[in-house]
Amino acid sequence: MPEVYNPQLGRKQSYPYEHRQQERDWHWGMVINTNRCINCNTCSFACKSTWTSGKGEEYMWWMNVETEPYGGYPMGWDMRLLDDLGAEETIFEAAEQGEKVKGYVAQKEEWEYPALGDDSVHGEYPEDEVVESDPEKGKYHDIWQFYLPRLCNHCKNPACLAACPRKAIYKRSEDGIVLLDQERCRGYRKCVKACPYHKPMYNPETGVSEKPVGCFPRIEEGNVPRCVSSCIGKTRLHGNINRGPKAGHPNGKKSAAKGRSPINYLAKSDEKVALPLYPQFGTRPQVFYMPPYHVPPEFLTQMFTPNTEQKRNDWPGSTYEESVKIIQQRVRNPSHHLLGVLQLFGATTRLIETYNVKENRVKGWDRKGKKVVDMPIEEDIEVREGEKWTNQ
Ligand code: SF4
Ligand code: F3S
Repeated sequence: MPEVYNPQLGRKQSYPYEHRQQERDWHWGMVINTNRCINCNTCSFACKSTWTSGKGEEYMWWMNVETEPYGGYPMGWDMRLLDDLGAEETIFEAAEQGEKVKGYVAQKEEWEYPALGDDSVHGEYPEDEVVESDPEKGKYHDIWQFYLPRLCNHCKNPACLAACPRKAIYKRSEDGIVLLDQERCRGYRKCVKACPYHKPMYNPETGVSEKPVGCFPRIEEGNVPRCVSSCIGKTRLHGNINRGPKAGHPNGKKSAAKGRSPINYLAKSDEKVALPLYPQFGTRPQVFYMPPYHVPPEFLTQMFTPNTEQKRNDWPGSTYEESVKIIQQRVRNPSHHLLGVLQLFGATTRLIETYNVKENRVKGWDRKGKKVVDMPIEEDIEVREGEKWTNQ
């Protein structure tokens, strides 16, 4: 199998279609701040009512929210594959003879409980005691859970695409969105088996498979996907993950900011506070998560980093666990610039191509160079005269 460089692993890995790897100027990407998610599933219903409300699609939740550490849809989707993978192997390197990808087809009963494990916590409440977090432990909680919104990652090494013998799945050159051509599909379900995130799903009514479409009609019009615009917790930011610091003015318009997109700033070029989910699978997912800051870093390290002994020089810290701790501190106590970028989450339904932070204002421009956000970073706080509140 040919080899491609995977920056999320810091090494080369095998992938069947190396010629599909050219970096595009514009690539679909998303950052999700897990600290803001309240498991309301507004995103899940917005997606379902838009895309999967037909016959045979009843079990299809292209967007779902799971409670970590015990939730999962389909049930146990991540642990099964992680247990089967060798310590330093991607799903492509671990493929059995005659297969392109190592995968698993979830059984009918594993798709029956989308909300299994909701709100279950890790750890036990001590009887007759008040639970307090110990500041000595760096504010990590003994008893914890958090919500993980899950969707198709529009991977740069898509396993679904690699596995389909009909070549019915393709990655669009204009924005990297991975689509399934239902006219070509013959229902072989290799894609269903191969995607480690379990997002392509078979429709028993039509006899062909379906997969998430990245809300491409909205992207083409310069709008963010439905799960992003509907999110009441303002957990998400969507845009061009490839737009780095050296890019010029969007569309050549001088009025707009030069340089990177806000999601590039968060996940790739500067703060690096947003991490891919299970990068060890080797698909280069393009949804990035800002990890919860109250959860012990050991758990997050195995979930959002390749979790190897190997050191990385493009992330903060000398070990992966250390990098997660640094990221948690950055998210808990954001710099003024990061605070500005966090204000862009949920600020507009237009897709923000570039942004700029100057003094107390953050501004954002769309792909045509039109200003779509202009807001203060910190509001003035007015302290009213009167009695001071005490807890005495
Ligand atoms: Fe394909 Fe799965 Fe990656 Fe989506 S998350 S592009 S379905 S491998
Ligand atoms: Fe290919 Fe998946 Fe259809 S493997 S033939 S796209 S079911």
